[in-house]
Amino acid sequence: PLPAPFRVPLPVPAVAKPVRTDATTDYYDLSPRVAEQEILPGLRTRIWGYAGAFPGPTLEARSGRRVVVHQTNQLPVPVVTHLHGGRTPAASDGYPTDLLLPSHGDFPGRMGDPRANVARGSRGYDFPMDQRAAALWYHDHRMDFTAPQVWRGLAGMCFVRDDDEDALPLPRGEQEVPLLICDRAFDADGTLRYPALDPELRAEPGVREAYAGGVLGDVILVNGAPWPSLDVSTRRYRFRILNASNARRYELSLDPVPHGSPVFVQIGGDGGLLERPLARSTLTLAPAERLDVVVDFTGSPVGTTVLLRNSAAEGPAGRVMRFRVVRKERDETSVPPRLSRIERLDPARAVATRDLSFESGDVHGHSGWTINGDPFDPIRATARPRFGSTEVWRLTSDVAHPVHLHLVHFQVLTIDGERPAADLGWKDTIDLRPAQTVEIIARFDGYRGRYAFHCHNLEHEDMAMMGNFEVV
Ligand code: C2O
Ligand code: CU
Repeated sequence: PLPAPFRVPLPVPAVAKPVRTDATTDYYDLSPRVAEQEILPGLRTRIWGYAGAFPGPTLEARSGRRVVVHQTNQLPVPVVTHLHGGRTPAASDGYPTDLLLPSHGDFPGRMGDPRANVARGSRGYDFPMDQRAAALWYHDHRMDFTAPQVWRGLAGMCFVRDDDEDALPLPRGEQEVPLLICDRAFDADGTLRYPALDPELRAEPGVREAYAGGVLGDVILVNGAPWPSLDVSTRRYRFRILNASNARRYELSLDPVPHGSPVFVQIGGDGGLLERPLARSTLTLAPAERLDVVVDFTGSPVGTTVLLRNSAAEGPAGRVMRFRVVRKERDETSVPPRLSRIERLDPARAVATRDLSFESGDVHGHSGWTINGDPFDPIRATARPRFGSTEVWRLTSDVAHPVHLHLVHFQVLTIDGERPAADLGWKDTIDLRPAQTVEIIARFDGYRGRYAFHCHNLEHEDMAMMGNFEVV
């Protein structure tokens, strides 16, 4: 039986505390380990969590101030940590073969990749955070096993802040709330249920055939709690929403719409603030996408409850959480008409246009997912953009594929030949719909080296829908 909705208060993941700071850098320890956590009321669930928590502690970073994350792998399997949306040097970007092995155990170290940067026991990741304010997240990226390892809990949020954003009168403090949304399935005793071929996640990757399209759960968790409830006052709230699900896509709406606020006001996306706020009645969110929205409860009478629905699903997955207006309070915040300035990348400047087709195909004799017919090969570069150059990538799909590029943030030029209906801002993940063509434009700068790009349906990713580009 599924737990009753709206019984559990919304938890907010703890903010990570640096173990040390100096003039330029904050140092953290986010060692992955096994822990027990009460997710479903009254039951203990064994999770794999950064610092033993699911979701992991939230990293609070300042633009331009370096973050170093140290990890000792206390899990029985290799891990790889990637900061999604981070502009990170290749050596710290969590390339799928850059395994951090447990200190004991016999795992193939290099996965056939001579360039793999493999560590045993411990390693540090260096994140310069030289980028604009945005909501990032960190999660596991182990080749072939990302999906089950994220499912067990290896994911957390990271906020980069900067002075431009801080100068705006947006809701903050208690009025700024992260919402990490993901679906999971559980056995009756509270055990996380995942259809892995090898439940130990040691050797054989993949899921049972019936799940090749992606694994969905029937319990919706927000910040790790099932269908939680958040008490709010008559103020504006800024929700930093992340879809951390393996394969589920959401269409979020408010029911009823709070009085005085016709809709969500979207102020940002994957790569930080938009130029101008956008009123939206529904928000679609593919795996790995982030949305930054303000909801106005200033006109809602005390006692009002508002449901956050997911109209992309029926039944239990059709609702996400509930807000309950419990107090009257003054609100001093607002959403300014101008939020930020975004440099528009010019397609006339692009030095290359690449066609990349995300489609099902043969993966070493099994059916899987490919890019241009090729399964992931950690060695072969699909593209070699020159450092500092601008390129247009034309992405096409068979079924839905949320496509993510590491290192760069991009802009969407066209969707099926048309300009996008609304400004999407800077993106790092694009929700490719079935049989769609989307043109994106990116400038490949920041760092040289080898980076991954892939479908962020994590089962598709594990079934080889990944490529790499080498910035040269
Ligand atoms: Cu969010 Cu390559 O990942
Ligand atoms: Cu896909």
